[in-house]
Amino acid sequence: MRGDVETIKERLDIAELASGYVKLEKAGQGFKARCPFHNEKTPSFFISPMRQSFYCFGCGAKGDIFTLVQELEGLSFKESLKMLAEKVGIEIEYSPVLAGARTEKDKIREVLEKATQFFRNQLLGSDQARTYLSSRGINEESQKLWRLGYAPAEWRALYNHLSQFGYSKDMLMKAGLIKSVEGGIKEPYDVFRDRLVFPLSDASGQVIAFSGRALATETQPKYLNSPDTILFTKSEVLYGLDLAKEKIRRKNYAVLVEGQMDLVLSHQAGVDNTVASSGTAFTNAHLERLKRLSARIILAFDGDSAGDKAAEKATELALFMGLEVKVAKLPEGKDPADVAKAKPEDWKEILRSALPAIEHFLEKIILSEKDKRKAGKLIGDKILPLMTLLQSSIERSHFVSLIAKRTGIKEEIIWDDLKRVKKSDLTRKTTEVFSVENLTGSPADAVRDGLSPQNLASKREKIEERLTEVRLWVKELTKNSPEANDLKKEEVELEGHLSKELLGQELSELSLALAVAETSKDSEEASKLTKRIHGVLKKIQVLEDKKVL
Ligand code: UTP
Ligand code: MN
Repeated sequence: MRGDVETIKERLDIAELASGYVKLEKAGQGFKARCPFHNEKTPSFFISPMRQSFYCFGCGAKGDIFTLVQELEGLSFKESLKMLAEKVGIEIEYSPVLAGARTEKDKIREVLEKATQFFRNQLLGSDQARTYLSSRGINEESQKLWRLGYAPAEWRALYNHLSQFGYSKDMLMKAGLIKSVEGGIKEPYDVFRDRLVFPLSDASGQVIAFSGRALATETQPKYLNSPDTILFTKSEVLYGLDLAKEKIRRKNYAVLVEGQMDLVLSHQAGVDNTVASSGTAFTNAHLERLKRLSARIILAFDGDSAGDKAAEKATELALFMGLEVKVAKLPEGKDPADVAKAKPEDWKEILRSALPAIEHFLEKIILSEKDKRKAGKLIGDKILPLMTLLQSSIERSHFVSLIAKRTGIKEEIIWDDLKRVKKSDLTRKTTEVFSVENLTGSPADAVRDGLSPQNLASKREKIEERLTEVRLWVKELTKNSPEANDLKKEEVELEGHLSKELLGQELSELSLALAVAETSKDSEEASKLTKRIHGVLKKIQVLEDKKVL
């Protein structure tokens, strides 16, 4: 197979392949285009025929011919291999080892597909489950579209059914469909029992896991997800992405909801660019994935305090990642499913009137806190930190004016506060946490609060990776072209960031050592370390001062 990959790479040109998807323009030794993975007006997607690779300076998408078709067509690696092999007219030969590794995943996919069909048939035969679905307002078309099913109230219905086809216990275990009894004497039993079943698919639409909604009100937990398997990582999957991805790209925004019911009913109401996380908060992985389709999202979480908290967290993360975020305002105590079920038009109206996240949170403070002084304090605590995450100063000044207009606070004062405000948790990496005052506290605490050496290392790796890309592409672009000049500028900036990260890492290591020294009451070592820490802090300060905001 390795040989096949090489042969395909030799025979197919990346520029030619890409030209089937995007319009290419010459740029130096290569080409540029508007990125197919995120929405943009000016091209930042570059193709190097020399290195047979692509890179987008806007969204960071990169790879070779295989990655390109995987991402654009929503294919697995194997499928992309097959597709490109057909293009160049070769037959793929699998090495026995790889064939083995592949069939395991393939077999699990096959089992999950069979399970989906089983659940589906069970639903069609269960009056109780169908009555429940119609009571939730989910029509038959939606049931079919989302392949909803029912896991019967028996211990081994699915297990027995799948065993007939010769699937081993081991395979069903690996697929996350059955689990063994502690002690292991009794036969394993079905994970999903007496639950409405939502199949969760990957981007290409293949089922990789299930989420089951309890039918009986007293059953805990209300929703049960498949365990993580070789196909399924719970914190990464976006429910509905397979059907919504094209719509997200076309409409150029995504609607994010929290629950499966919310998703199905939102689509049913005609909002077909909706996706949901599945029982976890929205993560980096989710947002990275969405960012490739569109940089604009609307968060539509439950109208309760948990929903508000989740929206705040997601906003912070999304702004940090450079997304444009709006927040929809749900009626108190209602979730998107409730609204979409009661009146689809209302759901659309709520989304239409979603405000930019910062404005949304500002309005909330102004509405709920009539005391001007207290409102001012809340704005300082909640809104200004979010504003530090904005990448555009035009936007920042827009919100400064807005706050001034809505509160009567003078713009200069807001600017002053903004300059002094602590950066939001996500960007407050090293300098603030390790301010000299904080050092009198336990550095071990600070390290525990997110400054783990691993965190710093991965940030450093990201910068180094970007720097490598920038340096590679600068070489291939025409000297002094606008693109090359932009990249040169970025190179200098990245070098600055990198030194800061390296210092941050040194700081984190020194502080850990200091914590150890303090614990073992080695005061001589502790004072030596403190001195070194101060030295590093000074260097960071110098870098900070050089930086113009
Ligand atoms: P909610 O508790 O808001 O459920 O959880 P819901 O969407 O309103 O569900 P219904 O309308 O009562 O059926 C939101 C999401 O959190 C996950 C599920 O993905 C759910 O859709 N969740 C919830 C779990 O994973 N486990 C649970 O026990 C509860
Ligand atoms: Mn809900």
